[in-house]
Amino acid sequence: MKQSDRSETVRRYAFAVALVTAAALLRWLMGYLFGSAGPFVTFYPAVIITILAVGYGPALLALVLSGLTAAFFFMAPVASLRVEAPGDIATLAMFCLSGVLLIVIALRLKTVTAVKALRESEQALRRAHDELELRIQERTEELRTAYEKLMHETKQREQAEAQLRQAQKMEALGTLSGGIAHDFNNILAAIIGFTELVAEHTPKGSRDEHHLGRVMEASLRGRDLVRQMLTFSRSTSEEKKPLLLSSVVSETVTMLRATTPTTIRINVNIQSESGLIFADPTQIQQILLNLCTNATHAMRDKGGILDVELSDFSVPPSGGNGMTPGLYMKLVIRDTGAGIPPEIMEKIFDPFFTTKKIGEGTGLGLSVVHGIVKRSGGYITVESEPEKGTTFTVYFPKVAGEKEAIARAQDAIPTGSEHILFVDDEEAIVEMGEEILAELGYEVTSRTSSTEAFALLKENPSRFDLVITDQTMPDMTGVELAKEILTLRPGIPVILCTGFSHLVDAEGATAAGIRAFAMKPLTKREIAKTIRKVLDETAM
Ligand SMILES: Nc1ncnc2c1ncn2[C@@H]1O[C@H](COP(=O)(O)OP(=O)(O)OP(=O)(O)O)[C@@H](O)[C@H]1O
Ligand SMILES: [Mg+2]
Repeated sequence: MKQSDRSETVRRYAFAVALVTAAALLRWLMGYLFGSAGPFVTFYPAVIITILAVGYGPALLALVLSGLTAAFFFMAPVASLRVEAPGDIATLAMFCLSGVLLIVIALRLKTVTAVKALRESEQALRRAHDELELRIQERTEELRTAYEKLMHETKQREQAEAQLRQAQKMEALGTLSGGIAHDFNNILAAIIGFTELVAEHTPKGSRDEHHLGRVMEASLRGRDLVRQMLTFSRSTSEEKKPLLLSSVVSETVTMLRATTPTTIRINVNIQSESGLIFADPTQIQQILLNLCTNATHAMRDKGGILDVELSDFSVPPSGGNGMTPGLYMKLVIRDTGAGIPPEIMEKIFDPFFTTKKIGEGTGLGLSVVHGIVKRSGGYITVESEPEKGTTFTVYFPKVAGEKEAIARAQDAIPTGSEHILFVDDEEAIVEMGEEILAELGYEVTSRTSSTEAFALLKENPSRFDLVITDQTMPDMTGVELAKEILTLRPGIPVILCTGFSHLVDAEGATAAGIRAFAMKPLTKREIAKTIRKVLDETAM
């Protein structure tokens, strides 16, 4: 036993002795003050207090001491334990018995209290444990968020690096292809121009005419390619202005409908009519055409659905996916086609990357789209699942001070109600022309053959107020048609649509009654302005 334990035991027993002594003194004082009192009064409390305060052993000692003290000092006859005082012996025995009982009860009480205390501390322990668990959970959550943030930042950084590399690569290729495309454009212009001249003097239906047709076809394909390359290399002049994206989308889709096979359904969902962006309309049309052409190409075997959606989008100040906070127009082009295999996903925006057969595609489509989107301050994303389809999403930043800009943009489209004859040998263009002109309020009659158009005019020369005609057509070119019309009805204004305005001799054209040129592809706003200008000049 240790020294401290021993002195503790001595102290407990000393406490019992002291308490019994105090009880004896109190008993004596009571006897002195009140004459008589029960022999054990004051001793019971002493025993109880002892058991509660210092435990079982000292309490037994207190009990024995109390019995002896009472017997010797307060129960006189018992001092010699005489037989004549059996009552006193019984009292003593009762005292001892009830004392033991008291000890048992007290012990029991103590156990109950101890169990209760144990239970309480158990509960406290459990509470502490729960709290600790919660803390751990919170901390783990914090760590996880921090880790995710770190991973996200690392990924963003990697993406930014990849974008930078891509931009540098594009820059170099842009310079290179821009230079080639410029020279090539001039060569093509000469080929197309002279082919047209030769074709005019070649007997219709001859082999030579057929061959020239082929030359023309190939040259026009080349022209499209050069146009893509020029856009890609930013060598074409950009004419950025506030643009009502929804109208460009509807116009382009109208044109697409006419050229898309019927196995492909086109769904258009324009949720935001009023969004203005700052861009060149021809370039936006180019984006739509390139993305939709890719989509229809991916669905050409099995057919499918092409969704074109336009809606508002906003990036909160806290940012999102690396996009600059602000308001955007979100353009979604979704197809249910073959999808893009994950292994080529990285490369699809690369210039000249294509999976098409030689002669079918140049691989410039998406790189042109990418270039235009970047220059407009927008973003493009792609998601694709092989055999399920592909979704391209383009975000264009909206023009600030939107209301004022909308008013300006809408004011800029002049309308009218005159009767227009529209001539183009391409069915799709005729359909688009009809729709655009009708939207502008004009009455439209159209023909896909220049000879038919001429015949129509001959029937009733004063029926039309204006003729819009394509230049390159079989049988009779636009300029030839204009000349013929002029003989029928001098003064009627003619607008000539062409891809190459400088190829038509301007003086000759004026002599042929041509008042203005419209560059293909036609955009609603431009054609609307040209028409109004020509009609108003004629009226004066
Ligand atoms: N919607 C799509 N579905 C499946 N694959 C696509 C889709 N869009 C693009 N691709 C893939 O990306 C490649 C590159 O597309 P991009 O438009 O740049 O060139 P291209 O279509 O091959 O040629 P071009 O546009 O000059 O005719 C395509 O060859 C095709 O493999
Ligand atoms: Mg393409």
